[in-house]
Amino acid sequence: MNILVCGGAGYIGSHMVKMLTEAGHHTTTFDNLSTGHRLAVQWGELVIGDLLDEAALRGLFAERRFDAVMHFSAKSLVGESVAQPAAYYRNNVIGTFNLLEAMRAAGVSCFVFSSSAATFGNPVAGRIDEQHPQAPINPYGETKLIVERMLRDYAAAYGLRSVSLRYFNAAGADPAGHIGEAHDPETHLIPNVLKAALDPAKQLKVFGQDYATPDGTCVRDYIHINDLCQAHLLALGHMEHHQGAHGFNLGNGQGFSILEIIRAAEQVTGQKIPYQACERRPGDPPTLVADATRARQQLGWQPQYTEITEILRTAWHWHRKQLY
Ligand code: UFG
Repeated sequence: MNILVCGGAGYIGSHMVKMLTEAGHHTTTFDNLSTGHRLAVQWGELVIGDLLDEAALRGLFAERRFDAVMHFSAKSLVGESVAQPAAYYRNNVIGTFNLLEAMRAAGVSCFVFSSSAATFGNPVAGRIDEQHPQAPINPYGETKLIVERMLRDYAAAYGLRSVSLRYFNAAGADPAGHIGEAHDPETHLIPNVLKAALDPAKQLKVFGQDYATPDGTCVRDYIHINDLCQAHLLALGHMEHHQGAHGFNLGNGQGFSILEIIRAAEQVTGQKIPYQACERRPGDPPTLVADATRARQQLGWQPQYTEITEILRTAWHWHRKQLY
């Protein structure tokens, strides 16, 4: 298939491009390189452009025939979204709207969307399945939920087929070490833990030690990047046989606290991870753990990286020689 990968220069998008290529598909990455990396696009074609540029999108769809679109281009920092909601609504909502309109004009009718656990807001109880109410608590989560609703309405009115995949905490890297996670600034836990292992001067900040969790630090469900990408491949197949807009939660179903991640990283790296206790980071729910039963049953999804140490090992392999 010919797949348009919006945001293919980013962390998740670049791993998707690699996996699509290995599965025999042809990819075109469309990316404005605002947070992505040219060096991360090692497969397929790269077209530099912005989803806010409607003329560029029209040109892209006029020049090439796509069988499906995967959409990873988004601003994705919760704190930033609270401080700069306009940038989030513009980029994540208007940008996606432009993309869907370009698809509609070109008659492209399959769409895989990077959604987020952030659409659920504060969990009411236990592991989060698809029945859980979607009530975001920050503008980032709102933008993702607005797009899910757009997809529902485009399915009903225009027959657009879509799968929204709600990621919990994406982690790890390409096991070959060619691509990996590289944000600037880096706000995510696992890269920051590994940076502290590499350079003790980069002491890790642990945000909040007084949450209602077993050790007081926040609990998250870390899911390997290749397992996430595998679900996108399955979503392509799912849309061949299913009309409508579908949503699936993606996680391992097991939560790890920040202190547990630090201990596991010390085991994997053989280094002591220096850290300091800091104030809570605004907007962090205490616990986010997925129930991914629906993805397993309906997509046939089977995560391969079920041990946190395996996830950390691939991330460590990347961070030790980080190429970009
Ligand atoms: N944390 C630290 N120190 C750090 C970085 C993070 O203590 O240096 C803590 C955070 O406060 C949080 C936990 O580690 O308690 C995990 O934080 P991340 O930033 O790695 O991940 P989040 O759970 O905040 O965010 C992720 C995605 C978001 C998404 C969110 C909810 O990055 O895009 O999950 O789905 F919105």
